[in-house]
Amino acid sequence: MPWRKPAVSSNHVDGHPFFRFCQTALADIRAQGRYRQFTPLARLADRYPLYEQPETAPTPSTPACPEDREVVVWSSNDYLGMGVEPVVVEAAIRAIHEHGAGAGGTRNIAGTSPVHTALEAELADLHGKEAGLLFGSGYVSNQASLQTILTSMPGWICFSDRLNHASMIAGIKGARGSSTVIFEHNDLADLEARLAAAPKDAPKLIAFESVYSMDGDISDIAGTCALARKYGAMTYLDEVHAVGLYGAQGGGVSQRDGVADQVDIIEGTLAKGFGVHGGYITASSNIVEYLRLTASGFIFTTALPPAVVAAALASVKQVRKDNWRRERIFERVDTFRAKLRAAGVPFNMTPSHIVPIPVGDARRCRELSDRLLNDYGMYTTPINYPTVPRGMERLRLTPGPRHTDAMMDEMVAALSHLLRVNDLADASAVAMA
Ligand SMILES: Cc1ncc(COP(=O)(O)O)c(C=O)c1O
Repeated sequence: MPWRKPAVSSNHVDGHPFFRFCQTALADIRAQGRYRQFTPLARLADRYPLYEQPETAPTPSTPACPEDREVVVWSSNDYLGMGVEPVVVEAAIRAIHEHGAGAGGTRNIAGTSPVHTALEAELADLHGKEAGLLFGSGYVSNQASLQTILTSMPGWICFSDRLNHASMIAGIKGARGSSTVIFEHNDLADLEARLAAAPKDAPKLIAFESVYSMDGDISDIAGTCALARKYGAMTYLDEVHAVGLYGAQGGGVSQRDGVADQVDIIEGTLAKGFGVHGGYITASSNIVEYLRLTASGFIFTTALPPAVVAAALASVKQVRKDNWRRERIFERVDTFRAKLRAAGVPFNMTPSHIVPIPVGDARRCRELSDRLLNDYGMYTTPINYPTVPRGMERLRLTPGPRHTDAMMDEMVAALSHLLRVNDLADASAVAMA
């Protein structure tokens, strides 16, 4: 009998309560204006930040595009454009020819490729730590590491910044038996009060980030580590939005501030400033060995493909050497802010490379993003709940080394027009000098 494609059916779940739950939940999400459409955009490696938006008929989850066209993307997290650098792309191609497409199993089952070990050593060296461990993504590195640490001994108390990323929260929440104390965002006085109130002998961990990517603010790492010493806590720092960009070699804010040696565990991603994929932690050998031998999210999953690891290794090596890339991104960010300021476009001033444009309403945020794309050929994601609290909706722009002055002028003119003429701005927003 020739094979026939079976008819697509969901009938077997029609009567299940979860089916009806999904229908109602989706209708609610739409009614609140926070239904996420995924815009089809294909990156043009030789012309980044240009992407191709293919002609597409509308579907429930993707917008229409009447014909193929080029779009300038303004919200990528490949902050330095390393994902399209020839040295990185060629490393991936070489590795795929030499080692094939996938890793073939976990690090235990299929053997650990020397390129994985080399990248772990490179990352440990970058952060001045004894050892490093790779995970499938930055999300997994946070979730697996925090959950494993916080279930290791009885009585752990995790002090977690209120705005920590979902991946840290997943690890902390998944650690049964430990307790969690949430401290106010970047508020050392509140953290200290909560540390002081905790039982003296309980094992404590402070989990925080360096650059908070939605607001673009930066934590006081030295101050947090000083409190950790005073109250006998360990520190776990997420440098996901900082690695590659901050510090003399891109080791993050802890490197920039000269305090990396005071942080017990530094976590990062290879997917943003390094432009490739994967996550990692670096720490003392004992901690890394413990996680290597016990973290479920490390042990029971296929290792990153060797080509991805080779590309990441090439990227980290290059970024460490090239200080001009860091200088260039901050020059571009400053130039963009100056243009916004001159045009009177409201934005939140931040001490980082992130430029948030406050909108304050999910529908207006979506509309602003749609108009930028459809009318001007510029893409920037609307950031809505649950990524930010309701009422704090925004566009989040990440100008990079390849955004030209002309691209900036076009973005500023478009924003200026849409915000003023169409009244899409956050009424309470003030441009800050
Ligand atoms: C603060 C923070 N930590 C971790 C992650 C997860 O990193 P990855 O994208 O490599 O999974 C993200 C992702 O955006 C993040 O913002």
